[in-house]
Amino acid sequence: MKVMKVIEYHERTKHLPNRPARSAGYLDWATEPDPFRSYDGTTPIQLPFSNAVSDANYFDLFTRNNNRFQAFSFTNIAHLLELSMGLSAWKSYSGTSWALRMNPSSGNLHPTEAHLVLPPIQEYNNSGGVFHYNPQSHVLEPRAEFDEQFWLKLEKHFRQKGFLIGLTSIYWRESWKYGERAFRYCNHDIGHAMACLSFSANLLGWKITYLNSLSTKDMEVILGFQKTTWKEFEREEPDLLFFVHKSSQNLDKRGIPSDIIKSFDSLHFKGEPNQLSKDHEDWHVIDEVSSETSKPVTEGVIYHYKEHEYFEKEIPAMSGEGIIRQRRSAQAYDGKTTITKNDFFAILDKTIPRSHSAPFDLEPGDIAVHLLIFVHRVIGLDSGLYFLIRNEEDIADVKQKCHPYFFWKMVHDAPNMSNLYLLQKGDFRREATFASCQQDIAGDGAFSVGMIAKFKENIENNPFLYRRLFWETGMIGQILYLEAEAHSVRGTGIGCFFDDVVHKLLGFDNNAYQSLYHFTVGGALEDTRITTLPPYYHLKKNVRIGVILKMQYPNDLYHNPDSKGEDWPSH
Ligand SMILES: Cc1cc2nc3c(=O)[nH]c(=O)nc-3n(C[C@H](O)[C@H](O)[C@H](O)COP(=O)(O)O)c2cc1C
Repeated sequence: MKVMKVIEYHERTKHLPNRPARSAGYLDWATEPDPFRSYDGTTPIQLPFSNAVSDANYFDLFTRNNNRFQAFSFTNIAHLLELSMGLSAWKSYSGTSWALRMNPSSGNLHPTEAHLVLPPIQEYNNSGGVFHYNPQSHVLEPRAEFDEQFWLKLEKHFRQKGFLIGLTSIYWRESWKYGERAFRYCNHDIGHAMACLSFSANLLGWKITYLNSLSTKDMEVILGFQKTTWKEFEREEPDLLFFVHKSSQNLDKRGIPSDIIKSFDSLHFKGEPNQLSKDHEDWHVIDEVSSETSKPVTEGVIYHYKEHEYFEKEIPAMSGEGIIRQRRSAQAYDGKTTITKNDFFAILDKTIPRSHSAPFDLEPGDIAVHLLIFVHRVIGLDSGLYFLIRNEEDIADVKQKCHPYFFWKMVHDAPNMSNLYLLQKGDFRREATFASCQQDIAGDGAFSVGMIAKFKENIENNPFLYRRLFWETGMIGQILYLEAEAHSVRGTGIGCFFDDVVHKLLGFDNNAYQSLYHFTVGGALEDTRITTLPPYYHLKKNVRIGVILKMQYPNDLYHNPDSKGEDWPSH
């Protein structure tokens, strides 16, 4: 039974203090996957780089009032991609270099790929087509071509102009390092990429809407995956497809009619996926859970979230694009930096979904994730355990499942956030660190978070929601990354945590709710040995990069010898 299989996968991929989830247990550098997918045999089209930073305020990443609609031109599409899925920097240390991207990824392994279905464009002989985005050189790789008539059927269906973007996952990129738990990380990364796309689209006056009625099979047909010759273990799994449209224009469709989907089947798809590794380990439970959580066709649903004022509005002189570009993960925290109570409230408030604000108006589905917060260094707030309810319907249920001794005292001075509660006062730095696989980053920041999802009921209703729960956590993570930067601190996603330690801390004795992702925010310590280079400097003439390291760090920097968790997979 699908449900059982999914729950079984979830259970076996829990990290326990005395047993990590199964992985190779070491890094086999000889089979390290190439972080960049390309489709050999296609003729890449160079996308232009943006030459001016948008003057939109940071707040305009979220709200939609000030962002003037810009045409769906090749240049603007290039800008959307550069700012969401493009490179953000090169890092270099001791003769080795590695690229970072606008979208974060566990272990910097980047399993997420983007594909586009574009209307006829001058830059492609006035044809439309299906393209793969390769961020390494910021190019579109044309995989299939169609004429205007073909496109007009789609435009007529959506009753407006726009285009499609699909996100897919290459599980092997993550399982190479993280083994069986990698499926979870791939879906966190999808959630991060969803939010990245939504924010960047907003700056152009565009909105992305998740086409929630489509099945995984439909997406495969549209992206030509059933006509692609995949290398064993390196297949891309379609996750979701967005329609990108004018922000100010409502979209009443959440699917694509089957006759239009079928017409993609008649296209000729070019390009052979590059080989990522010369050898692989077979993590078959990932293929199983992927298949059990693949999505059937469902009724299209339009989701509405509550509309409410933001706690903090415009931050003067804070550029939205600037914050996107400067976002980084912290490797370590100083154990000192504090944030104010107001900044803390402002950060949390942005994670609450609103109907006409990015990123949640892409409509990931029913809101199912709440935040357990370990407050360590917030001025004006007692240290302790807090809980932010993001969907009011769950409050009684969550309370009932938690330890009876928790206060559930509403934090009254958090305007518009009536659902922030103090559970227990105290110093929880050790508990936070321990719960996050003994990673010091969870205790040395101003606060850290466990994302608690309504689990059993969702999975039992629809096993495909397993992926979606992780997407929601990834979206929250992306907001926290940007909010941290906007408030002069730094965030880091935490995929490595002891699942049941968190559940025990809350008093859960079943899987009605599960912690699916952690996050930490605080004052970062910079590693001054590492130099930073511009994102696309490698494309300039006469530039030679030393050994390109595909992962985050050379080995000696990656493992902190002082860390108690050194025997653990680093995430
Ligand atoms: C889903 C996810 C899980 C992560 N887990 C951890 C973690 O457990 N520990 C850690 O130090 N960093 C973690 N990171 C941070 C990544 O290592 C980081 O995003 C990646 O190296 C890219 O660097 P950047 O975020 O600066 O672009 C995680 C990031 C993501 C997106």
